[in-house]
Amino acid sequence: MKIGILTSGGDCAGLNAVMRGFVRAITAIESKIEIYGIKDGYAGLINREYHAIQAEEFSDILKLGGTILGTSRQSYKKITQNGDNNKAAQMKENYRKMDLNALIILGGQGTHKTAAFLSGLGLNVIALPKTIDNDIWGTDFTFGFHSAVNIATECIDKIQTTAASHGRTIIVEIMGNKVGWLTLYAGISSGADIILIPEIPYDMEKLIKAVELVNKQKGFCIIAAAEGAMNEEEAMLTKKERILKRAEQGETTASKRIAKAITEELSIETRIVVPGHIQRGGSPSPYDRVICTQMGTYAAKLVKNGCFGVTVALNGGKISSNKLSDIAGKIKYVPSKHELIQAAKDVGISFGE
Ligand code: F6P
Repeated sequence: MKIGILTSGGDCAGLNAVMRGFVRAITAIESKIEIYGIKDGYAGLINREYHAIQAEEFSDILKLGGTILGTSRQSYKKITQNGDNNKAAQMKENYRKMDLNALIILGGQGTHKTAAFLSGLGLNVIALPKTIDNDIWGTDFTFGFHSAVNIATECIDKIQTTAASHGRTIIVEIMGNKVGWLTLYAGISSGADIILIPEIPYDMEKLIKAVELVNKQKGFCIIAAAEGAMNEEEAMLTKKERILKRAEQGETTASKRIAKAITEELSIETRIVVPGHIQRGGSPSPYDRVICTQMGTYAAKLVKNGCFGVTVALNGGKISSNKLSDIAGKIKYVPSKHELIQAAKDVGISFGE
């Protein structure tokens, strides 16, 4: 049996842990197996850049951050356009040339769309849900998410002590352009005063009032703001219109616009902290190591059972799978009535509404 593995899209902690789990389990099930590590995600499959990897090479990587295979972002549009000569057709051809029996794909939103497309072309695909954004449909959690929550929480925890010492308002900009899961979890777990996520557009006046109140009560204020946080007016615009409007205003990020407004309206010293890609780096958390092991070993069982065209999921604490065609292209947003939003409000956290 010949199996190809690739990791695609933005990296996160846990990619190596999943591959280790998969390879250990599949080699225990099937003794005659050849594993091919495909370089840099779909790019490697398009360009036939791969090499045979011995099962032992997947040892000692449980705790290793990043991906030993490398990764890249490939746009779904570019992969699937140009009729029969598109990159997807190239991938199909290379899959056949490599004589693969299965293709294991670790990736996020966009990667899953392409995985579903390849599955539709007849490739034996099994996907695994990776992303710090936790936005893949049909799974309670994606791997990498909890590791990022730990990092973002630690970052906000540290910001709190310096903000308190200086009596400052500090905005911590958390990754997440479309969805706010990471900001919500990190904001709650660090006791942020205000949480801003794309799914709940803020009202600038109410937000300023909330900052003023928090400052009056405790002398400093911590705002956990998602990269993609937006105000109510911006929420009415299309993405293109939003980008244009922000460029006109001269402040391209939500954090900068909010900091500017706080300084102008309240004359409160305000700082912005952007942990950025640190949130994707380093070793997976113990929780992630466990679900990565569960998901990787589950994928091996799917191969054994010839169950393809699916992605592994965590459902109510149990590992299961969803059809790629059912989940591809859907985004798991934070529902505005989610119980965590209510819990946050119950402890006095403002969402700037
Ligand atoms: O999808 C994961 C993610 O980390 C997002 O939260 C973030 O907006 C984006 O990737 C950053 O992408 P890049 O690594 O290309 O800068």
